[in-house]
Amino acid sequence: MKKLFIIGNWKSYKTAAETNDWFQQISNFQFQIANLQDKEIILCVPFTVLSTAKSLIQQYELPIRLGAQDISPFDEGKYTGEINGKQIKEFAEYVIIGHSERRRYFSETDELLAKKVAMAKQYGIVPLFCVEGSDVPVPSGVDIVIYEPITAIGTGNPDTPDDAEKVCKAILEKDHNSFSLYGGSVTSENVRSFTSMPSISGVLPGGGR
Ligand code: PGA
Repeated sequence: MKKLFIIGNWKSYKTAAETNDWFQQISNFQFQIANLQDKEIILCVPFTVLSTAKSLIQQYELPIRLGAQDISPFDEGKYTGEINGKQIKEFAEYVIIGHSERRRYFSETDELLAKKVAMAKQYGIVPLFCVEGSDVPVPSGVDIVIYEPITAIGTGNPDTPDDAEKVCKAILEKDHNSFSLYGGSVTSENVRSFTSMPSISGVLPGGGR
């Protein structure tokens, strides 16, 4: 069976109190363990709620893994405001790198993103590397690449499963990554149309609300 990654991106949403409420609701949901074989459920939350989310996952014994949404390109040191790999590793196993919102609003370049990937790898954190197409450079050492066409992110206008399949296939062929995923206006209604495609190993829905 194909391994599937379901990765929630909370973006810049949720306070600690809202995180508590969310986990309380989710704790009533019956995760069917048999259905979770070969599935990895990952939640990428803001830095400010990583600690709370980790405690709540343990408390409710949920089959959810944690990810951060960014990582400093520097190791620990005099970098005011930065959160480094050593700090993230205490709470999270994954980190989103290269999301189009960071490329666009924070001018993150391919060079900077390669440094972030190197830092994640140094601390054993798995990079979830986002690209807007198969021609975008993917730093070496990245196993999970997520194709997120800019026109589909947060617009309610997803790519077609056929097109997403073509791009994900090209990504796998070009960089020999282990997995390629799709993100952009994924919903509970359309998720299967993407995950049933042979080259698509999961999805990254966002929103956080
Ligand atoms: P969306 O966001 O599901 O709201 O389109 C996806 C993302 O930004 O990763």
